Amino acid sequence: MAAVLDSVRAFFAPTTFAIDAENPSDVVARENLLDRVMGAGRRKKSSEKIRRNRVPAEGLALVARDRDGHVIGSVRLWNIEAGVNDEGTPIDALLLGPLAVAPHHGGKGIGSALMRAAILEAKKRGHGAVLLVGDAAYYERFGFFAEKARHLVMPGPFERSRLLALELTEGWLDGAAGMIVPSGRMLAGAPLRRAA
Ligand SMILES: CC(C)(COP(=O)(O)OP(=O)(O)OC[C@H]1O[C@@H](n2cnc3c(N)ncnc32)[C@H](O)[C@@H]1OP(=O)(O)O)[C@@H](O)C(=O)NCCC(=O)NCCS
Repeated sequence: MAAVLDSVRAFFAPTTFAIDAENPSDVVARENLLDRVMGAGRRKKSSEKIRRNRVPAEGLALVARDRDGHVIGSVRLWNIEAGVNDEGTPIDALLLGPLAVAPHHGGKGIGSALMRAAILEAKKRGHGAVLLVGDAAYYERFGFFAEKARHLVMPGPFERSRLLALELTEGWLDGAAGMIVPSGRMLAGAPLRRAA
């Protein structure tokens, strides 16, 4: 009954959030939100290997704010190479994640608004495809499917059915095969990789 009432309230609630570019003063609130929503294991994910010590793709770190400007949602996208094409040329693309919405604001369309804004901005900036690891049942509504990513692998354990892709330019991922690797700018002061 409580869940039904929550859905009814969410349906009639006025729009109380806005999507905005993340700025440096949002970092602490965003990290707290991710810790709360994704739990302590979030830094052990294979996607994290791609994000670690990197800067998000230009213009593609977004937040949702409540009426007081507090961060209640977050999504970021990262420059990657999505394997190589039939000629062996690396395919530039984006990896999306994490996407998170504060639990007490769930079901108000904030996650969807963040996704749509991120996809639109990625397209405007000329990117050809977006990949992510997540629940197909949620991401299919935005056009993400496993099919285009079927010959790609993450640099660590992952579930094949959760590696999803959306082409922003038709055919961008044709023939894409191999490892997904980071290609974004390194964070200033990031430790250099030790030689093996
Ligand atoms: C997933 C998440 C971002 C959705 O945010 P949100 O603002 O509640 O999403 P929206 O309001 O836009 O959409 C809600 C809809 O998504 C559905 N949904 C939410 N999570 C889902 C999931 N993992 N699988 C399938 N559907 C899901 C809800 O049931 C609801 O469906 P309805 O529209 O038919 O009622 C949020 O629940 C969250 O932060 N979850 C924890 C972090 C996480 O798991 N992120 C990655 C998702 S794989």
